Amino acid sequence: MSEQKLRSQQWFGKTGKDGFIYRAWMKNQGIPDDYFQGKPVIGICNTWSELTPCNAHFRELAEFVKKGVIEAGGFPVEFPVMSLGETLIKPTAMLYRNLASMDVEESIRANPIDGVVLMCGCDKTTPSLVMGACSVDLPSLVISGGPMMKGKFKGKEIGTSDVWRFAEAYKLGELSQAEFIEAEACMARTPGHCAVMGTASTMATMVEALGLSLPQNAAIPAADVRRKVLAQHSGRRIVEMVKEDLKLSKVLTREAFENAIRVNAATGGSTNFVIHLLAIAGRIGVELDLNDFDKFSKQIPLLANIQPSGVHFMEDLYYAGGLPALMNQMKEFLHTGIITVNGKTVGENIANTPIYDSNIISTMENPFKPDSGIAVVKGNLAPNGAVVKPSAASPELFKHRGKAVVFENIEDYHARIDHPDLDIDENSVMVLKNVGPKGYPGMAEVGNMGIPKKLLEKGVKDMVRISDGRMSGTGFGTVVLHVSPESAAGGPLNWVQNGDYIALDLDNRSINWEVSEEELEARKLAQPFQVQAHIRGYVGLFIDRVSQAHEGADFDFLKGGSGSIVTRDSH
Ligand code: FES
Repeated sequence: MSEQKLRSQQWFGKTGKDGFIYRAWMKNQGIPDDYFQGKPVIGICNTWSELTPCNAHFRELAEFVKKGVIEAGGFPVEFPVMSLGETLIKPTAMLYRNLASMDVEESIRANPIDGVVLMCGCDKTTPSLVMGACSVDLPSLVISGGPMMKGKFKGKEIGTSDVWRFAEAYKLGELSQAEFIEAEACMARTPGHCAVMGTASTMATMVEALGLSLPQNAAIPAADVRRKVLAQHSGRRIVEMVKEDLKLSKVLTREAFENAIRVNAATGGSTNFVIHLLAIAGRIGVELDLNDFDKFSKQIPLLANIQPSGVHFMEDLYYAGGLPALMNQMKEFLHTGIITVNGKTVGENIANTPIYDSNIISTMENPFKPDSGIAVVKGNLAPNGAVVKPSAASPELFKHRGKAVVFENIEDYHARIDHPDLDIDENSVMVLKNVGPKGYPGMAEVGNMGIPKKLLEKGVKDMVRISDGRMSGTGFGTVVLHVSPESAAGGPLNWVQNGDYIALDLDNRSINWEVSEEELEARKLAQPFQVQAHIRGYVGLFIDRVSQAHEGADFDFLKGGSGSIVTRDSH
């Protein structure tokens, strides 16, 4: 490695006034002169925030990354970026995923950084960091914060998926307010992100399947010291990656994306995976579309018995052998020859990784469930597609035709869902409009609408529900999500009315709305589509420039290859 090849030397290797300025102010942190003389500068992109409780342990974890960087001869520099906490941010953290990704991209590009460790945890912190890093395309690797330990409540193991069950039990009076509050502390009892295969764990799994992290990144609990050791190894490894010039684009090949889709199917990952993977592919310049999710999920059964598709937790996955053991089971469906960030191939990383508990990781011969992955349905209600997660749905509803009960927006849903006069039964199809990328800027996770109280009391547990919104990765049910184009973009969903018949057929991947052309034209004439009035600021930019769900809901101006590297001096 020649020192001049290091990007950071465009700052720290300069002579004269500019070099003085670049180095002198850094020295106020007690940095010795030799750090500026050709050591790879490793950015540690940290999403620590006390407002992102899933990432609240990241300051300590970053110290282990730094240790590793220094041991390997690098110069670690930690920097903060916008952190997106799923639970607190209103209206939805997804509104800010693209903004955070721009913060990451420009923070990396503008600074003397040769390689980056991305510290990811809560749901949107992973895609925003990976998307931003892809747009710069330096050597980069991910260390996730790790899942929480599973919760314990009244002798039962609990996790985030139980929030929906508790909410329904509370609605029915089966759980008191005091019990509800007690359950809160029982569920979130250690550092880390959600303990189930929700979106955060899906993202941690995704980065490991893409080859963007060291093996076992997906499931080591946050509270397990082996997470700290993994962080230290990640610090060591990124320095070598800089020396090898192992850029993101060398790891993120089309084959890596196909692997990630297949692994997501086998682990029962979140439907949010679709949106984030499409956006990441768009940033790195790999062609990927919605049909690929269906195509590459086929033949892959559900191997991981993890909530919400199963009953166990992420820490159980780790004890059972972790993601490498699961990937080893399905290796004939994976591209095993491609390189990963540790410099080894996928095949090398997953070799000799036995399953220690087949109740948690099942085999291809005897899978936990035959249905897995993401089913992409199309039809006149969703010309550009919509997604369903079969492993979280009810098989008896895979083929269903029913009368629509329409909610114009989420406020309308809340106002009427439990009204005794609502004309709805278990065969109805619930339809929610205006919760797509533009309609509810950020595309809220409200697609798995709660069942009306009067039907819950009758014992109804699931119904077909359709919307242009998203669903929490911890949610479940026969829920058709991400309908594209969305209603607020003038998609067909905008014109659905109460009483229309809608037919879902998962086996045939179709969703059809029984309305004649003449009737549809009459509805359009009676109530012409109105484009949303312009809103100021970031939300206005978001509505104007966000792409539809089937394209990853990224900003149109962020798609495409990596940007240029700044070399100008401004002093
Ligand atoms: Fe952060 Fe679930 S709320 S991962």
